[in-house]
Amino acid sequence: MNTTTTALETESAAGGSPDPIDSLPATFRWGVATSSYQIEGAVDEDGRTPSIWDTFCRVPDAVHKGDNGDIACDHYHRMPQDVQLIKSLGVDTYRFSVAWPRVQPHGRGPVNRAGLGFYERLVDELLTNEIEPWVTLYHWDLPQELEDAGGWPARDTAYRFADYAMMVFDKLQDRVDTWTTLNEPWCSGMLGYAYGAHAPGRRDFEAGIHAVHHLLLGHGLATERMRAAARSPKDFGITLNLGTATPLTDSLLDREAARRADALGLRMYLDPLVHGRYPEDLVEDLAKRGVAIPVLDGDLRQISVPFEVLGVNFYSGSVFSGVDEDGNTEDALGRPVDRVVPRQVPVTAMGWEIVPEEFTKLLVRLSRDYPGRPIVITENGAAFDDEADENGFVQDEDRVQYLAEHVRAVARARTAGADVRGYFAWSLLDNFEWAYGYDKRFGIVRVDYDTQVRTIKQSGLWFRDVIRRVRGQ
Ligand code: FCB
Repeated sequence: MNTTTTALETESAAGGSPDPIDSLPATFRWGVATSSYQIEGAVDEDGRTPSIWDTFCRVPDAVHKGDNGDIACDHYHRMPQDVQLIKSLGVDTYRFSVAWPRVQPHGRGPVNRAGLGFYERLVDELLTNEIEPWVTLYHWDLPQELEDAGGWPARDTAYRFADYAMMVFDKLQDRVDTWTTLNEPWCSGMLGYAYGAHAPGRRDFEAGIHAVHHLLLGHGLATERMRAAARSPKDFGITLNLGTATPLTDSLLDREAARRADALGLRMYLDPLVHGRYPEDLVEDLAKRGVAIPVLDGDLRQISVPFEVLGVNFYSGSVFSGVDEDGNTEDALGRPVDRVVPRQVPVTAMGWEIVPEEFTKLLVRLSRDYPGRPIVITENGAAFDDEADENGFVQDEDRVQYLAEHVRAVARARTAGADVRGYFAWSLLDNFEWAYGYDKRFGIVRVDYDTQVRTIKQSGLWFRDVIRRVRGQ
């Protein structure tokens, strides 16, 4: 059975109406995405020093089964073959991240030419194969020494980041036109410092808020310096993980819970980046928790320097209530209740609700509230409990369905006025899924971790075919 057409035909069969995917223009940008620590391995080769993730993986019980990125997908040694794999999918863009501790060991001092050399070879290989490189400068692998000096809650880290960004930019700007500063500052700041689920594993809400501000400052500093040094026009940007926060009911308590979640998850980033101010309601919410954003004179101007492309990573959305299961509206510390209420909808292997219609809503809202910023979906995808046959092939109907519904959601958002220019699948490969280790597989290509053999899944074939179809090939 050819499932590639099955998933696409579902839509037409259901209503006899055309598939929204066919409304995407032939110029729409298609890509696959990865990140350094999740795929590279080779953690102590060519002068790379440990990042906060190398350290965190050694903390007992921090990562599922004690997994780590020491070998991961061994991409550092298999890069040319992986580029061929990317080529075979027919995408035009590959989004990857650069590992700071490879390029500037210890987070300070001179460039490490051997480490940067790897990314030069990768970029050259991509260009030779007519794949456009899309660089993300920071996808969470902070050099451990910078964490020891205070990490992102310390203001100095923003300046260190800008120095590092310039090292990469100087070397690669002649070959790379799109530059993303940060991947998901909410995750780096809040999961890393406030909630302890990610490296470096701190559980200090105030430290999380300080980290977010300094990440945004680092974005602004790096963007301004790179732009000033650019010898040709470049697209600069940042990638945010954005979801939707829907109130459970129309009650004031539920609406307030959703508002707080939206302030902390979305507006805390986009308001300063685009409008040059933090949301007033957020500042008040934080003040009630005794926390202030450490803004110094000039910071908001720095954070809101212009950028060309907003990267959006979307996976799910949540419903919020301001009342807990026992009817309380405050927790033991007297803080308002923010309860996520599960919906009766299908979930992925991560337990994330599958809500593509919310994706459409989000994108339309972004173009309305933050106009003039073209959007590219820099990540979207799903983990499912894949089962490989004797040839390593995975017939992942669930992932095909997830991707098809979300690409449709993007197409619908465009029809409704959202300026979305591209869509990148997360992820090219099964890889090290942070605190979930290798247990959760997001790839459209399966990786057998015993042999490092890569096998394109049904979803990868589907993706390839959709791209061809939209391009009219
Ligand atoms: C995003 C991360 C990416 C991956 C996906 C599943 O938050 O950017 O590295 O972990 O989630």
